[in-house]
Amino acid sequence: MTASGTFGYGTEYNHLFDIQKLGAIVCKGTTLKPREGNPQPRIAETACGVLNAIGLQNIGIDALIKEKAPVWAGWKVPVIVNIAGETIDEYTKIAGKLDGVAGVSAIEVNISCPNIKAGGAEFGANPKSAAEVTAAVKEATSLPLLVKLTPNTSDIARVALAVAEAGADAITAINTLKGMAIDVTKRRPLLGNITGGLSGPAIKPVALYMVYEIAATVDLPVIGCGGITNASDAIEFIMAGASAIQVGTVGFTDPQAPLKVLQGIEQFMLNEGIEDITDLIGAARR
Ligand SMILES: Cc1cc2nc3c(=O)[nH]c(=O)nc-3n(C[C@H](O)[C@H](O)[C@H](O)COP(=O)(O)O)c2cc1C
Repeated sequence: MTASGTFGYGTEYNHLFDIQKLGAIVCKGTTLKPREGNPQPRIAETACGVLNAIGLQNIGIDALIKEKAPVWAGWKVPVIVNIAGETIDEYTKIAGKLDGVAGVSAIEVNISCPNIKAGGAEFGANPKSAAEVTAAVKEATSLPLLVKLTPNTSDIARVALAVAEAGADAITAINTLKGMAIDVTKRRPLLGNITGGLSGPAIKPVALYMVYEIAATVDLPVIGCGGITNASDAIEFIMAGASAIQVGTVGFTDPQAPLKVLQGIEQFMLNEGIEDITDLIGAARR
């Protein structure tokens, strides 16, 4: 899958390669009303990673249903809509609007965005509020529910367990790690939002460890995400217990990376004589 916020609505990449070959596309985080996002600059490069503070700039749920879903309905590749809100009521309203919309295959509940003032990662930081959002969204939709967790919490496995008990169908781990950078000549934080979320290869060992922990704790499919740049990275996540993976930041340097990762996994399986990917899921745990 592509990771939310790094592959637009899929439509932007259609002319670059055959996106229908992907496992799934997760679209940009979508809110009840359109959002303009945070002040610039919103992106800063770091050693082995990227800090972003986009602040959920998006077209809003109504425009998504009107303009994007009809395009997706004609696609072979399933599209998962990533949703975010400042209140539980906003999450349920968005989920309710998506129910039964042609072209939408599942919902990914983002309770992990570090770049907005209210909501987002606040919900994902503790098990109780994470469970409350999950249960409310589950009630509002018949679509499969992926819940995306934040690493910015003391015990992600406990949050995962709470979310599983509240009715999640799968868990996506992880979103970005909160961080910052300073412009030494201006003596000011580099990002307009002061803090941002760190992604890319720098976070891979953290993400891998968290997937390993979550897979040991919950009996749900875990979707691994964080710093995957090639098939070998992806296979590490699968061996840690992930049933699927998402590719994000690397797509900014190579838009075809998600497809290359998928093809690389297939090649690895051929080389190793593996017919069924499930033989690899959690292989490092046994
Ligand atoms: C520019 C940018 C925008 C993002 N926007 C979202 C978003 O809207 N919703 C979300 O759940 N995650 C968002 N993310 C987080 C990614 O989906 C992913 O969880 C994270 O970047 C770690 O994966 P990666 O290291 O492969 O990029 C964003 C990441 C980046 C770099």
